[in-house]
Amino acid sequence: MSLDIVRGRLIVLGVSGSIAAYKAVELARHLTQAGATVQVIMTRSATEFVQPLTFQALTYRPVEIEMFSGIDERAAGHVSMGIHADCIVIAPATAHVVARLAHGFADDLLATTVLASSAPVIVAPAMETHMWQNAATQQNVSTLRARGVHVVDPEAGELASGMVGQGRLATLERIEAEIVDAVRVRSRRLAGRRVVVTAGPTLEPIDPVRVLTNRSSGKMGYAVATAAREAGADVTLITGPTALASPAGVRLVPIETVAELRDAVLASLPDADAVIMAAAVSDFRAADASASKLKKKDVGDEMTLRLVRTVDVLSAVAAARRPGTLVVGFKAETGDPVAEAERMLKEKGLDLVVANDVSQDVFGSESDQVTFVSADGAETLPRLAKTEVADRLIERLAARLG
Ligand SMILES: Cc1cc2nc3c(=O)[nH]c(=O)nc-3n(C[C@H](O)[C@H](O)[C@H](O)COP(=O)(O)O)c2cc1C
Repeated sequence: MSLDIVRGRLIVLGVSGSIAAYKAVELARHLTQAGATVQVIMTRSATEFVQPLTFQALTYRPVEIEMFSGIDERAAGHVSMGIHADCIVIAPATAHVVARLAHGFADDLLATTVLASSAPVIVAPAMETHMWQNAATQQNVSTLRARGVHVVDPEAGELASGMVGQGRLATLERIEAEIVDAVRVRSRRLAGRRVVVTAGPTLEPIDPVRVLTNRSSGKMGYAVATAAREAGADVTLITGPTALASPAGVRLVPIETVAELRDAVLASLPDADAVIMAAAVSDFRAADASASKLKKKDVGDEMTLRLVRTVDVLSAVAAARRPGTLVVGFKAETGDPVAEAERMLKEKGLDLVVANDVSQDVFGSESDQVTFVSADGAETLPRLAKTEVADRLIERLAARLG
């Protein structure tokens, strides 16, 4: 079996306090040789069995053990590895780790990382037969499986104690096969799908030099386009002017006015499986934009600018889509964004609205606190990096698109 698919991926390898911890050294080596970035997190007990230095030397990265030291907390280190991981594999997993994961504990770095992650989690238990067969362990394993954790059952054979029975860590071939599967599924969730993303601000001219615009940086839309691309989708990014680099592998369609945005989205709509409208669209434009520059001397000390409504792009898209095309709106509000999002969902016939409170620090920020509002209800996420919000949104879309 080839490990090629892990090249360039971030694999978090959790190692806990089992006698089988030495086998994780070989796993770390295989993954690193295959081109993955392997971040090892050891429990304190694991360090009784294998020196962190062994993993460090083989993965070329420091091993993380403690929640409160070593990691840059400005970057929310206690959760950042889980957030960025493509896959978390815990091998060997002790009975204790299995129990803590089943109960959602966050009392050490490994447990916290798993809890904060939306990456696939693979758990390969290793323990004495009696510990494995104990009803508590079996119930914990069932709980993890029911939550979608991939449990690689231990094998039967001779154990470290000299007893014979089930409890030996699964072979590295079986664990690596699970990793390959998990990374493949995650990386190709939107393969063959066409996704249209809008991003950034719109610009409505007042005259040839002045515009009506807004503070959108485009970061959220660009993060969504990148996440969709990484999930294997064919992505068209329709974007107002931003200072951001164009994401690799994405078709970029530059626009300025709302009318241009509408035309570009409608042109891509017939092929689209999903349209994600993250652009900050101006609700108003100048009624009589001047073809020549307005001069102070002609205008005087005061000037009234008459504004008229721009076209409602979201409603136009929702009405023109073919059945099955998902349409996602973003609702930036300063009052009660969730209530506004619920209204928007119904009125415009959308599939999902991402509500965010822009009275908080959102524009240009790297992070955002949003609520996903759909017919299934509202899910409020913690404040997360925009890239992570984008990943979670793409995960939702992928689940909806099947
Ligand atoms: C020599 C020795 C070997 C152990 N092997 C295992 C094991 O294979 N599996 C297991 O679940 N616990 C094993 N334990 C017990 C765990 O180390 C213990 O439950 C510890 O609290 C686990 O901590 P952790 O889950 O945070 O790593 C072993 C303990 C000792 C002293």
